[in-house]
Amino acid sequence: KFTDRVLWLFSTPLAPTSSANAIMVKVVTCTAPVNIAVIKYWGKRNAALILPTNDSLSVTLSQDILHSKTTIAASPDFSHDRLWLNGKEEDITKNKRMHNCFRETRALRKQLEDSSAEPLEPLSTYPVHVCSENNFPTAAGLASSASGLAALVFTLARLFDLPTSTSDLSRIARQGSGSACRSLFGGFVAWEMGSRDDGADSLAVQVAPETHWPELQALICVVDDAKKGTSSTEGMQNTVATSPLLQHRIRDVVPERMRDMKKAILDRDFQTFAEITMRDSNQFHAVCLDTFPPIFYLNDVSRAIIRLIHEYNATSPDGRLKAAYTYDAGPNAVIYAPKQNMKEIIHLITRYFPGADFVDPYNFFPEGEVVGSNLPH
Ligand code: ADP
Ligand code: DP6
Ligand code: CO
Repeated sequence: KFTDRVLWLFSTPLAPTSSANAIMVKVVTCTAPVNIAVIKYWGKRNAALILPTNDSLSVTLSQDILHSKTTIAASPDFSHDRLWLNGKEEDITKNKRMHNCFRETRALRKQLEDSSAEPLEPLSTYPVHVCSENNFPTAAGLASSASGLAALVFTLARLFDLPTSTSDLSRIARQGSGSACRSLFGGFVAWEMGSRDDGADSLAVQVAPETHWPELQALICVVDDAKKGTSSTEGMQNTVATSPLLQHRIRDVVPERMRDMKKAILDRDFQTFAEITMRDSNQFHAVCLDTFPPIFYLNDVSRAIIRLIHEYNATSPDGRLKAAYTYDAGPNAVIYAPKQNMKEIIHLITRYFPGADFVDPYNFFPEGEVVGSNLPH
């Protein structure tokens, strides 16, 4: 989503001065959404290029609720590239993933500058200041690297006026954080692992747009908003190096699940969607446990929510699944369910876990009805 017009800012003293004293800054702000995988990416075959060991598939959530908002300024007066994340400056000198995104987008800008008939501002040579905010917990297993790096690449593309396609931007975002390639698209998105060594065919493809299945909704249960102990990047490298179960998953499980999941989405078949989603989340966490030393992302509350959803599904008179949980690399649950069941699920969660603050931006519960403690959004 392109939230701002492109601006040129001139800072100048009041007294007449030569234009050489003016400071030139170009600033652009964009937001990008979170995506939560229903078939998990976990494992790289090439860590430098971020090439995965298996295909994955995710659902992009509405960025009206969860998003990264990134503002980038470029100026010849800046000394070096800098990042402020959630109001605090981060040292990015050794952050390869961000530099991949800077390098790739600057190379495209340079091509544009070199091929343009009229002279263009040499933005490809200007250092940038990046200021990004996530309106949800960072590094807590709610895909902040996905929305964050997608926002970075999308904002750079706007800053540089790149005519680049969304698919090509997804290939660049992949080199920032694997899951970020899927956040360039809305709706249901596959990341095709590709087979080439240079990663040219490892990119995101939209399976169906966000309008395809309007009844499907997600409930985010924040169990712990602290930064996780093991980052996704580090965790999956250890898994690749030590887990025999991962090899079974890559070879014997994911290819069939990808086929079945795509069909379930196209058919809006919640039964198949829900069963594969829960099984794949469980297998991903089993693979974490099979890593040596093991990685624990789930906590007691996460496991209690898993049990609760299975008990809730067991109450269904016709045996049909009513909800599906999934967990990324963290303890926080995402529950996918048809909209008609959401009210019941929210009541269930807030009854079993009293004290939860419920943010209700879509006014699920009319005035007067108290659920957990209703918060204004
Ligand atoms: P998550 O489960 O939240 O995706 P990861 O371990 O995959 O956690 O990645 C978290 C890291 O992603 C952060 O420590 C930070 O380096 C990066 N990140 C998160 N949000 C942003 C953002 N908005 N802009 C730039 N980088 C970000
Ligand atoms: C469990 O994309 O965060 O969320 O590529 O190293 O940045 P890097 O890892 P990241 O891993 C995401 C793992 C996951 C599953 C998924 O989103 O598919
Ligand atoms: Co991540």
